[in-house]
Amino acid sequence: MLACTIFLSLWFWLASGAVVSYPRPAIYNKSAKYSLKVNGTYMYTVSYAGYDYVQLTMDQGHATEFRIAVVQETSITSYNISPKQLPIHATTDGNELVFSLVDAHYLIVTINDVKEFVILIDPPEVNPPSSSGSGIFNVLDYGADSTGGSVTSGIQQAMDAAAGSPGSTVYVPPGLYYIGNLLLRDKTSLYLAGGSVLRFTGNSSDYTTLFTKSGVGPGTWWIQTEFKSSNIKVFGRGTIDGNGYYSLNTHTFIADLLVPVDTTGFQFDGPLLRDGSFWTVTPIQCTNASFKNLKILNRQDVGQDDGIDVIESIDVTVTRAISIALDDSFSTKTWPYDTGTTVPYPNPPQPLSNVVFDDCLAWTVCYGYKIGQGVYTSQDSVIFKNSVVYNAAVGLGIDHRYGTSYVNNVIFDTIDVENLSGSNAGHATWLALFVESEGAGVGPISNVHVTNIRVRNEGMYNGILVGYNSSSMVSDVTFTDIYMLANTTPATTLEQMKILDISQTSGIVVLG
Ligand SMILES: *[C@@H]1O[C@H](CO)[C@@H](O)[C@H](O)[C@H]1NC(C)=O
Ligand SMILES: *[C@@H]1O[C@H](CO)[C@@H](O)[C@H](O)[C@H]1NC(C)=O
Ligand SMILES: *[C@@H]1O[C@H](CO)[C@@H](O)[C@H](O)[C@H]1NC(C)=O
Ligand SMILES: *[C@@H]1O[C@H](CO)[C@@H](O)[C@H](O)[C@H]1NC(C)=O
Ligand SMILES: *[C@@H]1O[C@H](CO)[C@@H](O)[C@H](O)[C@H]1NC(C)=O
Ligand SMILES: *[C@@H]1O[C@H](CO)[C@@H](O)[C@H](O)[C@H]1NC(C)=O
Repeated sequence: MLACTIFLSLWFWLASGAVVSYPRPAIYNKSAKYSLKVNGTYMYTVSYAGYDYVQLTMDQGHATEFRIAVVQETSITSYNISPKQLPIHATTDGNELVFSLVDAHYLIVTINDVKEFVILIDPPEVNPPSSSGSGIFNVLDYGADSTGGSVTSGIQQAMDAAAGSPGSTVYVPPGLYYIGNLLLRDKTSLYLAGGSVLRFTGNSSDYTTLFTKSGVGPGTWWIQTEFKSSNIKVFGRGTIDGNGYYSLNTHTFIADLLVPVDTTGFQFDGPLLRDGSFWTVTPIQCTNASFKNLKILNRQDVGQDDGIDVIESIDVTVTRAISIALDDSFSTKTWPYDTGTTVPYPNPPQPLSNVVFDDCLAWTVCYGYKIGQGVYTSQDSVIFKNSVVYNAAVGLGIDHRYGTSYVNNVIFDTIDVENLSGSNAGHATWLALFVESEGAGVGPISNVHVTNIRVRNEGMYNGILVGYNSSSMVSDVTFTDIYMLANTTPATTLEQMKILDISQTSGIVVLG
């Protein structure tokens, strides 16, 4: 009988499925442009600069209905759903766009000429912690102000207490928390419950200034790991809000929002990062770091707000990610010693290797997927795969601009370049692999495989393969299955790929 009851409840739970919409924090407004119903239930949308968004979690495996209403319009004359390659069959019903999804995806939807609506759907959380109990340090027990009324130190206090019990978790319940610099302690986890917001104040006097970026100003690492630490985790469905537009424009102060640095076994799963004022997520001198369900929603009117820059790190994976920014969405870099932004780095420059970006969605005014511009130490074995460029000036690139080291073994595999627009530093193309000199050295780029790429828009300018001189060439680049525009057969020549600016290269092969 008991077994039967358990079976029935399990059956009911599986059959009924679940959709979770996280309460919209009071500091954000609801979208004035779009509403979303999932299986008949309204989700909490958020109005934002440039685009609006909504975040939810759903069980996968059964068809779930999405109904997006474009609320100020009476009918739908055009729409776009990105990634275009997803098997989504949409219909219209008055001012509603209707489709179903079996699996969770990150989507960018436009209807008529209304701004983008970014729909962030995650699979259910795996083993979310309870809010109290053994190994749980709830920040409310450490006096954290969850009302946003003051700059609170309760989260750091809970973290410091947790550090005394390796393997424990700091629990942040729903609420608004303005915090100063936060140091993630060795062997602890930070859990941000859905509906919680950690917010940067923007006021430099609340932070330790760690570096100055030339041409921009002073900045900090807002949330960073302890040096020489291991097994630190940041997870949950809460929001990390960099308040970047305000911080940059009112206080001329910038921040990297999340900085795993000199740490091993770092894991990130789930929180949403928004409104960065500078490079938003920067693993620096890490080994074995993983990022999944990573959602970076920056504004496209805030300077150098790169999404994720993997810097001088080894064995890093970024999977199931969306990165919207004015500056580069997904990138790897290596920098000089003790200069500008690297002043707080704990170690001399380290090489970068084994970095994988998989199942990513990029939307930027600069580069979607990029290596560079800093190549002060080597960058070896970097893979970008199964990914999409919603829009960018340059889709895929290696820009060797600073430093004398090399880039070797790079794969761009199975990427859909949906659209390109505008230009960045004179480049506007689906592919730019080049070495340039800004007086800080040059170096070679070699062994690049560009495979199974759909290029739906060629960009305004030519693609480029340009080395610098005979010791800093672009060499051994192989193209396979590059589908230009609507072509169903792959390109067989560089001309067909509109790659027409070519110099200082060797071993360029188009396999078709
Ligand atoms: C939505 O409803 C359908 C039909 O009842 C069900 O099969 C599916 O599991 C539901 N989806 C979710 C995520 O609850
Ligand atoms: C929310 O809407 C109110 C009223 O229109 C406006 O004053 C406020 O600036 C908005 N806040 C945000 C974060 O957009
Ligand atoms: C910044 O913080 C300092 C110290 O708390 C305070 O005196 C100052 O008024 C704040 N400035 C703004 C613009 O909030
Ligand atoms: C990498 O880090 C993960 C998460 O901390 C850990 O489980 C795994 O054992 C580490 N792998 C190696 C090779 O150290
Ligand atoms: C490409 O992007 C530009 C600029 O955002 C936009 O005007 C154009 O409609 C887009 N094209 C397609 C096919 O989406
Ligand atoms: C290539 O240019 C760099 C930077 O100017 C220079 O140091 C190097 O010697 C040059 N290599 C050759 C073979 O000329």
